Amino acid sequence: MNGLKRLEYRGYDSSGIATILSNKNSISIRKSPGKIRVLEGLLGKRPLSGTIGIAHSRWATHGAPNQANAHPHLDCKGEIAIVHNGIIENFARLKDELQKDGHKFTSQTDTEVIAHLIEKFYKNSSLEEAVRKALARLEGSFALGVISIREPDKLIGARLGSPLVIGRGKDENLLASDVPAVLDLTKEVIFLNENEMAVLTKDNCRIQDLNGRVVFRNTTRINWNVSQAEKQGYRHFMLKEINEQPAIVENLLKMRIEKDSDRIIFGGECLSEARLSKIKNIAIVACGTAYHAGLAGRYALESVCNIPVSVDVSSEFRYRNLLIDKDTLVIAISQSGETADTLAGVKEAKAHGASVLAICNVLGSTLTRESDNVIYTHAGPEIGVASTKAYIVQLLTLYLFALYLAQLKGTLPQKAIKKHLDELKGIPRKQREILKRQEKIAKLARRHSHFGSFLYLGRGVNFPSALEGALKLKEISYIPAEGYAAGEMKHGPIALIDEYRAVVCIACESRVYEKMISNIQEIRARRGKIIAIASSGDDKIGKEIKEVVYIPRCGELFSPLLAALPLQLIAYHIAVKRGCDVDQPRNLAKSVTVE
Ligand code: AGP
Repeated sequence: MNGLKRLEYRGYDSSGIATILSNKNSISIRKSPGKIRVLEGLLGKRPLSGTIGIAHSRWATHGAPNQANAHPHLDCKGEIAIVHNGIIENFARLKDELQKDGHKFTSQTDTEVIAHLIEKFYKNSSLEEAVRKALARLEGSFALGVISIREPDKLIGARLGSPLVIGRGKDENLLASDVPAVLDLTKEVIFLNENEMAVLTKDNCRIQDLNGRVVFRNTTRINWNVSQAEKQGYRHFMLKEINEQPAIVENLLKMRIEKDSDRIIFGGECLSEARLSKIKNIAIVACGTAYHAGLAGRYALESVCNIPVSVDVSSEFRYRNLLIDKDTLVIAISQSGETADTLAGVKEAKAHGASVLAICNVLGSTLTRESDNVIYTHAGPEIGVASTKAYIVQLLTLYLFALYLAQLKGTLPQKAIKKHLDELKGIPRKQREILKRQEKIAKLARRHSHFGSFLYLGRGVNFPSALEGALKLKEISYIPAEGYAAGEMKHGPIALIDEYRAVVCIACESRVYEKMISNIQEIRARRGKIIAIASSGDDKIGKEIKEVVYIPRCGELFSPLLAALPLQLIAYHIAVKRGCDVDQPRNLAKSVTVE
C-alpha cells in the first residue's frame, strides 16, 4: 500500500490489491473506485494476509473508473491475478475469441483479456511460459504483474512500451511501474528493458527476453529521494512532462493511424460517419491552453475540410446568443474534463440541438459523460498546472480529426492526406531534436529572465502559439506577457516597444514569413529585445537578430507542434530562475471546476 501511494501522482481513479493467502491457497482481492485511501479503508475493515501480492492504481483508458474495472483482474477460475499499465489495442478481437472459447468476463477493460489469455495457455506449462505465450498475442503496450495460486511463490513481470522496475530487497523482491514505489524498501533496482520478463521469488530474480532467452542485468543503485524519483529525476513535473511529449505523440500516432492502410481510427469513441458527414459547421469551445489548441485546430479544419469553424472561450460561449443547431458539431476541448465553463458550454450546445464531441485526457470525467462522443488524448496524468503535453496531444488530435473528416467528406485526395500523415509521423523525431538543445534554450531564457514584461507575436497558425507562449510564461513566472497577432502591431502594441520590453517572435517558414521579418525590423528600430523562433536553415533571420531558437522545418500547418516546445522551455526556465513554484503556481488550480 505504501508503494501504491508513492505512485498516486501518476493519476488514479480506482485501485486494488490481491494477495495469495498462504493458508487457504487462494487469491483474495480488495478493490474500489476513488482515491487510494478508499482502498486503505476497505483493508482496515477487511484486512488481507499473505506474503506475495500485486496492487494497482488505475488511470482509466478503457472502461469507466468503477469497482468492476479496477485492477487486479482474474481469470475464470480465480487462480491467476494480474495488474497492467498500458493499452492493448487488439483487446476487442482477443476478447471475442476468448468468449467464444467460453471465457467469462467481468469488466470492460482491455487488461482482463490478458488474465484469460494466460489461463488459456497455462495448461501443462509454467506460469512464465503461459505469460510468454499470452504476450505474443498482444498488440499495444504493457507493463504487467502476474501471480497464480498454482505457483504461489512466483511473481512475474513483463514490459513492452510501459516502464517496469525490479526492486532487489532483503529477503524479498519487488516489481513496480516506477522507482518511488520501492524506494522505502530498497535502493537496488533493475530497469527492465523492452520485451523483457522477470520471474521473481523471495530469494531469486531471473530475467529473460520474451523468447525465453535468459538475460543478465546489473542492478542500479538509486540515489534519488522519493520526491525526485516521482519526477524521474527531473526537477519539476512540468519539465518531465515537456520531455515526455515526443513519446506520447509517437504512441498516439500509433494508436490513431492504422499501420498498413494509413486509415485514421478513433475507435467507438467518435461520432458516427453518417452523423459527421451531415455537419455544416463546427464550433470549438474551451478555456486557456485548450482554447489555444482550438484556435490552431481551426486552421487545419478550415483548410482540409472546407468547413466554417468558430472558436470561443467557454465563459463567453455559454452566455452568447448561440446561432448553432443540429447541423453544428461542437468540439469541447478539456484536459481535465471538469472545467465548469466548458461543461456549461456543452449544456448550452446540446440545448440548441448540436452534436458534442469531447477531446479530453481523463476517461470517465464529467465532460466525457455529458458529450455525445469522446476522443481521448492519452497523454497520461498531467501533474504540472501549466499544460504542456496535454496541449500537444489536443493539437495532434484536432489535426487527425481534421484529416479524418476530410477523408470522410472527400475534401482532400487520399494522396494529400497521406502526405499530411507522413508529416505528422516525423514530428516526434523533430521534437526530440529540439529537446536535445534544451540546455541552450535554458541559457537563452535565463538571459531574459530580468525583463519585466513580454510580448509574443505570431501570424497564421502560429498566432495561437503566441497566445500559448504568453500564457505559459505569465502563469508560472507571474511576468505580464501578452500574445498578439503580429499584424496587429501597428494597431496599438507597437507603442509598448522599448529596450525594457522582450518580444518573442514566432517566425517559422510560412507564407507570412516576410511579414514577420518586417515586424522584427520595426521592433528592432525601437530597441525592443527580440527572441525569435525560426526554422532550421533560415540564413536570413540571423542577420536581423542574434537570439534565435531554430526548430526543424515542417509543413506550416503542423508547426505549432514544434514551436510549442521552445515556448514551454523559455517559460519554464525563466520561472525557475525567478524562484517560482513551477508545478503549483500561486492562485491557480489544475482544474477550474468553478466559474
Ligand atoms: C494552462 O496551462 C492552464 N493550466 C489553464 O489555462 C488550462 O488550460 C485551462 O484551465 C483549461 O483546463 P482544461 O483543459 O482542463 O479544461
